[in-house]
Amino acid sequence: STGMTTLDPGFGNTASCSSKITYIDGGAGVLRYRGYPIQDLAVGSSFLEVAYLVIYGELPEPGRLKEFSDKLRENADIPEDMGAFIDAMPRNGHPMALMASAVNTLAAYYDDSADPADENQVELATIRLMAKLPTIAARIYRNSIGEEPIAPDPSLGYVENFTRMTFGERRPDGELGELFGKAVDLLLLLHADHELNCSTATVRVVGSSQADIYASIASGVNALSGPSHGGANQAVLEMLDEIRDSGVELEDFLERVKNREVRLMGFGHRVYKNFDPRSKQIKNLATQILDRDDNPDELFELALRLEAAALKDPYFTERKLYPNVDFFTGVIYRAMGFPSNMFTVLFALGRLPGWIAHYREQLHDPAFRIARPRQHYVGSPERRYPGQG
Ligand code: SDX
Repeated sequence: STGMTTLDPGFGNTASCSSKITYIDGGAGVLRYRGYPIQDLAVGSSFLEVAYLVIYGELPEPGRLKEFSDKLRENADIPEDMGAFIDAMPRNGHPMALMASAVNTLAAYYDDSADPADENQVELATIRLMAKLPTIAARIYRNSIGEEPIAPDPSLGYVENFTRMTFGERRPDGELGELFGKAVDLLLLLHADHELNCSTATVRVVGSSQADIYASIASGVNALSGPSHGGANQAVLEMLDEIRDSGVELEDFLERVKNREVRLMGFGHRVYKNFDPRSKQIKNLATQILDRDDNPDELFELALRLEAAALKDPYFTERKLYPNVDFFTGVIYRAMGFPSNMFTVLFALGRLPGWIAHYREQLHDPAFRIARPRQHYVGSPERRYPGQG
């Protein structure tokens, strides 16, 4: 037909694959990494242990976690010329764009770990990515505020090292520092994987052409940056700031959402048609950190009121729109001193183990072949070039 028929939902629901990494039951709000419920891991585990579980498939035997952690400490540095490359990038660039560029060059700096056909090289790249992404992220941030980079300190743990490289002496210490450290660790853990989300599907598609792991992960960073995906945690805070600064009543704001003038960022999900189990964990964490009588956090209070108003409104409940992983993360990251353009970088640090696990799983999948979606052609029927027909 020549008329444009209504297109099907595009890639929305077509891609699929088998995986042993993460199980989601969107109707019941269930999330398990390698069979372990997210609630168990949130209470009993740590980001590095969960990263190990997601990547290697089992919880580490005693001693293996320390070995893994030590390897990451030993590999946290980046080459001087790579540091200079990062420092030469435009300071006003979005940290996600700069991080994707930096990750994409890792194959050039570490060409002894870029061959997908060599398992030892894939393992070496796994360690280098896990070890160096926090260093790259912190350097991009320091550069953006015109401050000198801080080299990783091999005596510190993963999260402590990242917060020190990011905030330097300004990082909160004492009890508050301890609480923030635990909060960052839990937030990274809660983001570790999420089956075939947009950015993980991107890593698989790029990796399916035998592109190296660094190029595939850099592509995942780019996909995650969009406000419909990981960029939503930044968009939620911008939405809350706009509501507060404009003084608009919540009911009036929700009217604008229902009139489709704006989206309620941090709400809705392709798979969860119930509460996102991660959002409940993050809301509890935000309450622990922000809901202090002496100094209530106004944006957290506003987020709680906005959530309550939406959950009472049939427009949202009929469409099964609930808070997702991004709704409360931003208020916590902001309270810790991260600027909003770093929130999605933190999402990427958490999601890295999942991206790596899916890239590796695909390499060993007997059904592994290049991704090549098909389309429904709805364009012009054949027509001849003037004078040719
Ligand atoms: C993440 O996939 C993953 O797992 C992602 C993630 C992960 O861990 O990797 O969980 C992380 O990306 C979470 C989502 C972060 N994005 C946002 O918070 C942005 C706001 N949310 C929406 O843009 C939307 O809900 C999506 C993108 C998350 C999901 O989009 P869908 O599945 O395509 O939903 P849809 O557009 O089909 O919506 C169904 C209905 C529509 O109404 P009708 O046209 O049928 O009347 O719900 C409406 C939509 O208009 N709707 C919203 C809405 N989300 C959907 N209306 C207002 N505000 C919203 N946020």
